Amino acid sequence: LCAFVAPSAAQTYPTRSITMIVPFAAGGPTDVVARIVTAHMAQTLGQSIIIENVVGAGGTTATTRAARAANDGYTLITGHMGTHAASVPLYPKLAYHPEKDFEPIALLAGTPILILARKDFPPKDLKEFVAYVKANAEKVNAAHAGVGSVSHVSCELLHSILDIKPVGVPFNGTGPAMNALVAGQVDYMCDQIVNAVPQINAGTIKAYAIATPERNPSLPNVPTTAEAGLPAFQAQAWNAMFAPKGTSPAIVASLNAAAVKALDDEKVRKRLLELGSVIPTAAERMPEALAALVKSEIAKWSPVLKPAT
Ligand code: MLT
Repeated sequence: LCAFVAPSAAQTYPTRSITMIVPFAAGGPTDVVARIVTAHMAQTLGQSIIIENVVGAGGTTATTRAARAANDGYTLITGHMGTHAASVPLYPKLAYHPEKDFEPIALLAGTPILILARKDFPPKDLKEFVAYVKANAEKVNAAHAGVGSVSHVSCELLHSILDIKPVGVPFNGTGPAMNALVAGQVDYMCDQIVNAVPQINAGTIKAYAIATPERNPSLPNVPTTAEAGLPAFQAQAWNAMFAPKGTSPAIVASLNAAAVKALDDEKVRKRLLELGSVIPTAAERMPEALAALVKSEIAKWSPVLKPAT
């Protein structure tokens, strides 16, 4: 009898480089968070993690591809509140389901939303912004990263509170949308904080408010929406890592352990905090907690968002 016992997947995984799909353009918030965390995970796992930016349809093109990838641990995706929650009510024919087609690995970051505008947009504070966009709803435009993206969904919420329907200008991610905002080609945007801190600090764009109950330490001078007169607008997104459904529990566990280790690393934490993101607690980082978050976010957004036409 042969005494050879094949090593388990967990003992051998990974034996080659891993592809991390990012469903938006390089330089945007999802890309930045994925790069910071996977650079550390690659050291732990002893293999490189290659970022592949796959853009289109508010992140759903890439997420469909990830759902259909081999479930061998070598193709993963960094998704977010849009791809793994808001897309469900917005796209009735969505080719994947966030809960049925993925194994949650780890929550990577919470990302507060800011109301941002081009530097020379006339309103000087949030009260003036509200009056201005209501008075000029036909003329102003809002940049976003496609239907179902966080920037799209967040500004939809803002617009429903203000009861306006301005023109949306879609990009392949808020990295390119931010470039257009800096260049003055679009008027305003609701974006995740990690994309905005460097530009706000450089004075290349305006920040009217942060849509969270507290100010963010990375932007101490930016008021909360409550302080600035629009308490109803509260929005925080999140970024998280997923594998295709059926990926072995041993592989999910080793990826989760590497992500948890990355989020405990001082340099990783410093960088994420500098960019204003919220680092998940130890409990929030676990796959079960991410599964519960996805479920609750789908339930939260489903009555709010109507199918895109
Ligand atoms: C979004 O609006 O969903 C994100 O900002 C996309 C991105 O990472 O560019």
